Amino acid sequence: MSILMHACTLVVKILILPLQLWELLGLYRFYKRVFPILTYYVSFSYNRKMDEKKRELFRDLLRFSPRDGPLHLLEVGCGSGANFQHYPSGCNITCTDPNPHFKDYLQKSMDKNDHLVYENFVVASGEDLRVVEDNSMDVVVCTLVLCSVKNTPKVIQEAIRVLRPGGAFFFLEHVEADPSTWTYFFQHVFKPLMYYIGDGCETTRATWKHIEAAGFSDLQLRHFQAPLFFLIRPHILGYAMK
Ligand SMILES: C[S@@+](CC[C@H](N)C(=O)[O-])C[C@H]1O[C@@H](n2cnc3c(N)ncnc32)[C@H](O)[C@@H]1O
Repeated sequence: MSILMHACTLVVKILILPLQLWELLGLYRFYKRVFPILTYYVSFSYNRKMDEKKRELFRDLLRFSPRDGPLHLLEVGCGSGANFQHYPSGCNITCTDPNPHFKDYLQKSMDKNDHLVYENFVVASGEDLRVVEDNSMDVVVCTLVLCSVKNTPKVIQEAIRVLRPGGAFFFLEHVEADPSTWTYFFQHVFKPLMYYIGDGCETTRATWKHIEAAGFSDLQLRHFQAPLFFLIRPHILGYAMK
C-alpha cells in the first residue's frame, strides 16, 4: 500500500502545483478572507451532526467553575465562535485566533449567544499567547485547531501555562485514521490538497500523542468515528487537567 500511496500522493502534488505557485506569489493571503466565510457556514452543518458529542464534551465544563465566581474560558483558534451555544450561562470568554478576518463572523455568534460575557478577542496564534496571564484560566478550549497549528506541543504548553492548577484543556479534533484503513490511505494522498482547502489543515495528525505526552495530571481521551466526510471521520474528544 505504501508505494501506491506515495505514487498517488505525488500525482496529487503535481495536480496542485498551481496552488503552490499561488502561495509562492503571496496570493494565498486572499484565501484568508474567504476561509472565515466557509468556516462560518460549514460550522452549522458540523454542529448539527456533532451536537450530541459537543453536548457530551462541554457538559463537564461546570466541573471546573470556581466556587466564588464565573468560569473563565479561553478559546484558542475560536474561528467564528461555533462552540458558544454550548458554554454555560455567565461564562467569561476570551477568544484568540491568528486570522483577524474572523471578527465579523465571531461578532454574529456573540450577538446570538448573549448568555455569555465576552472579555476580549485577541489576534494571536496558539503558539504565542503572551497576552494571557499565567494561571488565569479555568478552561482552555481547542476544537478543530490542532490540525492546523504549526507547533502542536507549543500550543499545548501555552494552554497549560495559562490554566490555573486544577483547570482543564478541552479538545475535539479530527485525527489520522488507523494505518490499516483506506481512510488512512486517502488522508495521506489528499493531504496536500486538503492543506490548501483547509487553510493549513492536515488530515494526518496523530494529535492524541501530543496530548498524552504533555504531562497533564489526568487525561480523559476518547477516539470515535464522526458522522462526517470520510477524510475527517476519525476524531478524538476529551479533556486533560493541569
Ligand atoms: C477549522 S477552523 C475551526 C474554528 C473553530 N475552532 C471551530 O471549531 O469551528 C480552524 C481554526 O484554527 C485557526 N488556527 C490556524 N492556525 C492556528 C494557530 N497556529 N493557532 C491558533 N489557531 C489557529 C484558524 O484561523 C481557524 O480559526
